[in-house]
Amino acid sequence: MLHHRLVADSLTVEQDACAVILNRAGRCVRLTVPGTALLTVLTCLHETGFTEAELNRVVAQSRSPHLMAFWVRLAAGLTAAYWIETTVLAGEEKLVRLQPLTPAPRLGSVPGTARLSDGDVLRMAPTAVLRFGEPMPTLESGAAHHVAHVEDPRVLDLLVGLRGSATVGDTCRSSALADRDARAVLTALYDAGLLSAERDTPAQAGAADYWSDWELLFHARSRLGRTRGDYGGTFRFRGVRDPWPGIPQGFGADELIELPNDEGASRSLLDVATSRCSIREHDTENPVTAAQLGALLSRTQRVRFAREVDGYGDILRRGYPAGGSLYELEIFVLANRCADLDQGLYHYDSAWHGLRRIATGPGDLEQLSQVAQVTAQMAEPPQVVLLIAARFPRVMWKYDAVSYAVILKNVGALYDALYLHATDLGLAPCGLGGGDSDLFSAVTQIPYLECTTVGEFILGSRPVNWQRPSLPAWHPEAGGVA
Ligand SMILES: Cc1cc2nc3c(=O)[nH]c(=O)nc-3n(C[C@H](O)[C@H](O)[C@H](O)COP(=O)(O)O)c2cc1C
Repeated sequence: MLHHRLVADSLTVEQDACAVILNRAGRCVRLTVPGTALLTVLTCLHETGFTEAELNRVVAQSRSPHLMAFWVRLAAGLTAAYWIETTVLAGEEKLVRLQPLTPAPRLGSVPGTARLSDGDVLRMAPTAVLRFGEPMPTLESGAAHHVAHVEDPRVLDLLVGLRGSATVGDTCRSSALADRDARAVLTALYDAGLLSAERDTPAQAGAADYWSDWELLFHARSRLGRTRGDYGGTFRFRGVRDPWPGIPQGFGADELIELPNDEGASRSLLDVATSRCSIREHDTENPVTAAQLGALLSRTQRVRFAREVDGYGDILRRGYPAGGSLYELEIFVLANRCADLDQGLYHYDSAWHGLRRIATGPGDLEQLSQVAQVTAQMAEPPQVVLLIAARFPRVMWKYDAVSYAVILKNVGALYDALYLHATDLGLAPCGLGGGDSDLFSAVTQIPYLECTTVGEFILGSRPVNWQRPSLPAWHPEAGGVA
C-alpha cells in the first residue's frame, strides 16, 4: 500500500483570489481550480497525507466536479515533479519512504507505472549508494530525484538479495516481506531510479556510463536541483564555533625568510594572455630565482587587504577572486632548485610576504617532487612545485553543500592567475590535475581534514630558446579538422 504526502519541510500551501499556490525551495506551482475543495485536499495532503484509497474518497466527498475531473492528472503531475513523498506500507508498518529532493520547476508529465515482471533481473542502479546513517539507512544516487529512507530492516535484506541473476520473482519469494509488499518496495525504488532492470541496459554506451557513484553524488548535491538539505551560504556554524581566521598561524618555522618586494615590469594583458602556455622543461643552467618566485607570489597570493566583519570573520583580498572573500587556499613552496633559496619545503606567509620553513624527513622532498614530475611527464625534477592546500573549515563554516565545489573553483581562479603572471614574468608554468594529498599530510603533519592539497602548480625558469611545440597535423589550430 502506498501513502502519499506533500513534501513536509518548508512547503507552504496558500490560496489567493484565483489559484492555490504551492511554494518550496524557490519553486512555485499555481493551480487554478474553482472553489475551496482543492485547498482543503492539498492542505490535508501536506499535513497528514493519505493512502491512495483515502485520497480518492476525500476527493469524491468534496463533490467538486472540477476537482474530480482534474485530480488524477494533478496527483500524477505532482508526483512526477517531485512534490509528493511516498511511503510504501505493509499494513500500518512503514517499509521505505521516498523523499523527493527539490521539486521540479514545472509539473511533470504523467509517468507510466513501472511494470516489473517476475522474470526481470533487478540490480542496484550503478550510481546508487547505500549509507548506514541514523536512524535508518538511506539509498541515494546523483541520478535520482529521491532519497529512499529504509524504515524496515527487511527492505535491506531485499536489497542484498538483488545479486547475480536473481529475478524479481526469486527475490520476492526469498524475502521476509509478503510477496505483494516486496514487489511494492521494488517497484517504488525502480520508479525512483535507485534500482535498474537488466532489460533497461541500453545497447549503446551512454553518458551515464562515465559517472562514478561518488562523482555524480558530489555534482548533484553541490548544485541546485538535486541538493539535499540546506544549500549555499547558510553560515552553518555561526554562533556555534568561531570562524577560522583569515591568516593561519603555525604553518612552518617562526623565522620568516623575507621575499623581495619587487613585482617586476608587466606586458600588456593581451600579449600575456595570448602567449600563455604550459611549459614542462626548465632552464637547468639558470634556475628560477627567489626574486621571481617572490614577484609571482606577491602578484597572486599576497594579502592586499584584510578586515574582520562582525558575524562573518576575516575577509581578505588577493590577486585572484575567491568565493565569499574567504581565501582559504594556502601555498606551500617545494623548492628543488631555486637560486637564493635553500632546497626545502616552505609555507608562503601571505600576510608578511615571506617563507617559513617546514621541517621534513629524509626522502620527503623527493617523493613530493616525483609525484609532480610524473604528473607533468617531465624528464627532470621540476625546479619548484607550488602545493596549493585548502583550509577546509574556513569555507565549511559558512557554506552548506557547496564548500568543496567552491574550493575547487577557487583553485581554478588561482591557477589562471599563476599562469598569467608566470607568463608575464617570463617563467615556465604548468598546472597539474592531480597530486597526493595524503603524502602532503604525512610530510607536513597538518591534519588531513584541516588542510591538505587540492592543487599543484609547477614553476621553473623558461629555457632560453624555448618554443611552443609544433602542433600535430590533426590539431584544429594546425589546420586539421579534428
Ligand atoms: C586544471 C588543469 C589540470 C592540468 N593537469 C595537467 C597535468 O596533470 N599534467 C600536465 O602535464 N599538464 C596539465 N595541465 C596543463 C594542460 O595540459 C594544458 O593547459 C593544456 O594542454 C593546454 O595547453 P597550454 O596550457 O599550453 O595552452 C593542466 C591544466 C589545468 C588548467
